[in-house]
Amino acid sequence: MSTQNTFREELIATARAIATPGKGILAADESTGTIGNRFDKIKVENNEENRRAYRDLLLTSENIQEYISGVIFFEEQLLQKSDEGVLFPELCKQKGMVVGIKVDKGVKPLYGTDGETEVQGIDDLDKRCQKYYQQGARFAKWRAVLKIDSKTGCPSELSVHQNAYGLARYAAICQNNGLVPIIEPEVLMDGDHTIEQSFAVHQRVQAAVVKACHDHHVLWEGALLKPSMVQPGSTSGKKASAKEVAYATVTCLQRTMPPALVGVNFLSGGLSEEDATLHLNEMNKIKERVPWNLSFSYGRALQASCLKAWGGDKENKKKAQEAFLVRAKANGLATLGKYEGGNSAESSESLFVANYSY
Ligand code: 13P
Repeated sequence: MSTQNTFREELIATARAIATPGKGILAADESTGTIGNRFDKIKVENNEENRRAYRDLLLTSENIQEYISGVIFFEEQLLQKSDEGVLFPELCKQKGMVVGIKVDKGVKPLYGTDGETEVQGIDDLDKRCQKYYQQGARFAKWRAVLKIDSKTGCPSELSVHQNAYGLARYAAICQNNGLVPIIEPEVLMDGDHTIEQSFAVHQRVQAAVVKACHDHHVLWEGALLKPSMVQPGSTSGKKASAKEVAYATVTCLQRTMPPALVGVNFLSGGLSEEDATLHLNEMNKIKERVPWNLSFSYGRALQASCLKAWGGDKENKKKAQEAFLVRAKANGLATLGKYEGGNSAESSESLFVANYSY
C-alpha cells in the first residue's frame, strides 16, 4: 500500500472536494497558443491583458461555485489578478473552488511510430509541483494523447505503454508533492472507427494506465481520472446516441478502474456543448456498479458559447457570463442525471478540431 506519502490525508480530502456531486471542473488551462486559436475565431488579439480579462470573466461569474468545484489554470494564471486586484488562486479559494494546474509541456513524436506522441515535462516536475503548491494549486493535469487508426493498428503497444507509464510517473510525483493528479489518457475522436473499436482501444489504454499506476504506487483515493468518451470516430459517418455512448463509456470504466478511484471527470474532446452534457447526464442515470463520482472537466464544451458572446468586448461581459453559467449549470445537473436538455442550436455545434493539441 502506498502509505508513505506525507500528504495522504490532504490528497484524499482534495480529491473528494473536487468530486462533489452536482459540480465539476472548468478546464481553463489553455496554453498561450491554444487560447490564441480560440481568440482568432472571435477576432480578439492574443495578448496578456485579453487573456487575463477573459479569465476574470469566467472566474467572477455569479455563483460559479455552485457548479464548479475546481478550475485548471495555465501557469500564467497563477500570477494574474481579477479586475478587483485579487490573485486568481485567492479568488478561487474565496469561492471554495480548488485550483489546478496544467503541468505537462505538450507532446513530442514517438519516433518510429505512425505519428504517435509522448508527453514532455517529467524532468523538473517535482520542483514545479512544489512551486505550484506554494502558489495555491492543489491538483494537476497531464494530458496524454492516443489515436485510433484501424489501418495502421494505432495506438501501438509502444504508445500505450509509454503514455501509461508517463501518466503514472507524473501522478506519483504530484502526489508526493501535495497535488492530486488528474490522470488524462485522451483517445482522440479522429478517425473512421466504430464505437466497438473505440471501446476496445479505451479498454486497452485504461487497463494499461491502471497497471502503470499500481507499479508507481499511486494512491487511488487521492487521484482523479479524465478520460475521453467511447464513441464512433469523427469521420465514421456514424453518430451514437447519448445512451449508447454512456453505456459503452461506463462499461469500459467498470472493467478497468478500481473502486478506490475517487472520481472520473470527462474531457469533452470536440463534442458540442449540448452533446457533452447529454452524454454525461445519461451516464449518471446508470445506477448499477458505478462507485465513482462521474462528472466533467470540460474546456471547449463549457466555454464555446461564452467566448462567442464575449467577442473581446467589455460591454459583453455579463452576457458572456450568463452563457457560461448556462453550460455550467447544465453540466452540474448532468452530474446528477437531472439535465432535461433542450438548448439552443448554437450549443449543438460541433467543437471538433482534427488532431487537437492543448
Ligand atoms: P476539452 O473539454 O475541450 O476537450 O478540453 C478538456 C481538457 O482539459 C483537455 O486536456
